[in-house]
Amino acid sequence: MSDLPPLPAADSLGVGVLATLADMPDPARAARAEAFERDVTGALGTRYAIAVNSGTAALHAALFAAGVQPGDEVLVPALTVVMTAAPVVQLGARPVFVDSDPATLDVNYADAAAKVTDKTRAIVPVHLWGRMGDPAALASFASRFGLAVVEDAAQAAGTSRAGIAAGTGGMAGCFSMKDGKILWSGEGGFVLTDDAGLAARARAFRGHWLTPPPGHRPQQQLAVNARLAEPLAALAHANLHRLSALLERRRAQSTYLLEALAGARGLTPIRPATDETWNHYSPLLTIGLPRPRAFAEHLARHGVPNSTGTFHLIPCDTRPMFTAGAQPPCRGAAQILERTLAVVLTDRDDEEVLDRYAAAITSASATWSG
Ligand SMILES: Cc1ncc(COP(=O)(O)O)c(C=O)c1O
Repeated sequence: MSDLPPLPAADSLGVGVLATLADMPDPARAARAEAFERDVTGALGTRYAIAVNSGTAALHAALFAAGVQPGDEVLVPALTVVMTAAPVVQLGARPVFVDSDPATLDVNYADAAAKVTDKTRAIVPVHLWGRMGDPAALASFASRFGLAVVEDAAQAAGTSRAGIAAGTGGMAGCFSMKDGKILWSGEGGFVLTDDAGLAARARAFRGHWLTPPPGHRPQQQLAVNARLAEPLAALAHANLHRLSALLERRRAQSTYLLEALAGARGLTPIRPATDETWNHYSPLLTIGLPRPRAFAEHLARHGVPNSTGTFHLIPCDTRPMFTAGAQPPCRGAAQILERTLAVVLTDRDDEEVLDRYAAAITSASATWSG
């Protein structure tokens, strides 16, 4: 197994934060957030970026700006975290959960089509674990039903498919920079879009409509404060300049772990699609052992952090706040979450940590009888 590329130098992070602290307080300006917005559009290939204080806020601002209103319905994969659905509810709309295909992890578009009503306004595809669905299938579904596409690309910075970068194929793309994400600032997020009107509405929404879109008066509309604090914008900006090195390291970490698990009993790596450049956010394996979720929980107790075992990820449609609508459960999403081992990595995980994970997983799988 080849060595990992070194953790990229972090000196620039401290320099940027210290320079920002020296300038504070500067309530009239947001120089670091603006610099980050300018450079992230260049790096990820869109015209506009709006920096916000979380991925949840990015979804909230983007869905608002895309026109989601009280009484609307928004299609959301059940294969996601609660943070995708919460902003839909905050806007007074209703998340309608759609299933995913266990063979591809992509949206099950037959199920989604069956759930479209005259209230459906938007679809929020989620690139969970950095994996991206087929952008052509998404575009044709959205245009068939006239839906806005607001991508949840919280985990997908650096992924692309068929030449389309995650978060750039729809009306807006939403990213999280919570620590643990490949592009991180501790807390934070941003919206990407090519649509000038959407960008102006999202920007206004982020800051209590103090900077209104053309034709509006300041504070004409109720909104939120979701601005990204300047020291965190400085971190985001410095990390943006390390992004290709951070991506290279994550891909190498994931490949290293999957290679170390090549002979592990009952575990099969889940590969990206042939036209997908995957950011390797989380190394993914199908667990072909009895009681797979219990196996993932067992690994979590033995020091291997993972989505289902550590963070108890369950299909979003089965969370108690969403079960009252009595839709049939999304069985494909349930099957995926039951059987997938998604190991949670951070950029600090070195060979020693990954060897420890591999040893714990290999020995647990060898003896696991459920
Ligand atoms: C898929 C997905 N969507 C949305 C979010 C929300 O992002 P944040 O935690 O920055 O609000 C996350 C964060 O973990 C996420 O993984």
